[in-house]
Amino acid sequence: MTAKLHLSYNTIHTTVKNLASEIIESGYDPDVIVAIGTGGFIPARILKTFLPRPILTVGIRYYDDNNVPMAEPRKIQWIDEVEKKLRRKKVLLVDEVDDSRVTLEYCLRELLRHRPSEIAVAVLHNKRKEKRGTLPAEVTRYFCGEEHDDRWIAYPWDADDIDAHDEAANAR
Ligand code: G4P
Ligand code: MG
Repeated sequence: MTAKLHLSYNTIHTTVKNLASEIIESGYDPDVIVAIGTGGFIPARILKTFLPRPILTVGIRYYDDNNVPMAEPRKIQWIDEVEKKLRRKKVLLVDEVDDSRVTLEYCLRELLRHRPSEIAVAVLHNKRKEKRGTLPAEVTRYFCGEEHDDRWIAYPWDADDIDAHDEAANAR
């Protein structure tokens, strides 16, 4: 098992800035950002600094309390009350990591039911691995800040001791 990859807030801020430039240069101009919680919350907020759009959030859970994948992802929180806001809108779906892609696929399929005019995906990190989920054909754009080998990424927002986390991040 390879050691965890520790990433600092500063590194992530820069990754998001580059990701935003990539999205803007592509010509994709979203009306709304949808953040997948909880990992997508902080990336979406940083993204808003460079791409100022309203942020809607959804909560989806795929792993149970014992960290075992469930039969399928489940909604913890959804945007039913504001789903009209997605109709004929250009959506940018944001998450921190594209791992198995199962949650991402589930979320995209659910959002597509609300008939956005276009839907794109932006993730901070994509792991190079065989994916169990697939991106629906309606998703024409996929933006990713960085690609990494299949190892666990330690995000700063999960850190118990942020100084120790930063030391590990700086030591790479
Ligand atoms: P995907 O569709 O985006 O690939 O997600 P997948 O279902 O494979 O991921 C399940 C959960 O595992 C997600 O959290 C995701 O954030 C988390 N995860 C996967 N790889 C890593 C990693 O390298 N580092 C960290 N820190 N998390 C990872 P979740 O169950 O949606 O919860 P939350 O943590 O976002 O709240
Ligand atoms: Mg997540």
